[in-house]
Amino acid sequence: MRNLDENTITDAVLARHANATDARLKDIVTSLVRHLHAFAREVNLTEAEWEAGIRFLTEVGHMTDARRQEFILLSDTLGLSMLVTAMAHRKPEGCTEATVFGPFFVDDAPAYDNGGDVANGAQGEPCFVSGVVRGSRGEPVAGARIEVWQADAAGFYDVQYSDVENHRARGVLHSLPDGRYHFRSIVAEPYPIPHDGPVGRMLDALGRHPWRPAHLHFMITAPGYERLVTHVFREGDRYLDSDAVFGVRSSLIAPWHHHASGTAPDGTVMATPFSTLEFDFVLNRSS
Ligand code: BEZ
Ligand code: FE
Repeated sequence: MRNLDENTITDAVLARHANATDARLKDIVTSLVRHLHAFAREVNLTEAEWEAGIRFLTEVGHMTDARRQEFILLSDTLGLSMLVTAMAHRKPEGCTEATVFGPFFVDDAPAYDNGGDVANGAQGEPCFVSGVVRGSRGEPVAGARIEVWQADAAGFYDVQYSDVENHRARGVLHSLPDGRYHFRSIVAEPYPIPHDGPVGRMLDALGRHPWRPAHLHFMITAPGYERLVTHVFREGDRYLDSDAVFGVRSSLIAPWHHHASGTAPDGTVMATPFSTLEFDFVLNRSS
């Protein structure tokens, strides 16, 4: 195949995949090539712009290691992560909606009993979190595995500190026989996504801020139900309508109630002010 020009090159590339044996891969790459070429034509991409794009992606790669996933940040900030999440979790009305996973999950978070303090020394105003895990027919789900993780008052997850020895502000607990769960933690605060790399420079160039509204992350699993990965967002947060990663859903916003010192919901006598949050989760049945 010779003498390809700007009008014939797309079909020539696609024809080269005729012998691909993985049909799904072929579909995906076909669509990718079509859209990539259409994009270059639409913006009349110059050589200098193509080079800048290659340089940017190279920097994203160089920034990525076991602790920092700049490609996922790129996907998050371009709305791709949330789009994929939304398509993967179309659920019946009433089920708790899913949102982005984020890069700060660890797979060895400590286990707690109900009532435990998952803050484990993380700084912030104490917060008592409780609620019920139910199935979509209203049935309480006993023994659901509830994993929670969040940033501290300074806006950092434990894994962002180089000196962290124990996991803080994250943990795993299980719902009680009536589906209820409760634990102590700290009040979530808004924080900027890591923005000291190429993705941060991209946001800056686009006139965008890197902030996420305050939230708790939850991952809930139980036999017979679809895994739920979601957040609970703090009502009133100034970034709810401009989340850097487009993850906010109205159904996931809840009030954090502030209290003067006194007796907390679990009977703990608090000498300092504290907050409370109640949030119920509804799991979709797995098919
Ligand atoms: C997070 O909420 O932890 C998060 C999500 C996407 C990008 C960065 C952080
Ligand atoms: Fe987060």
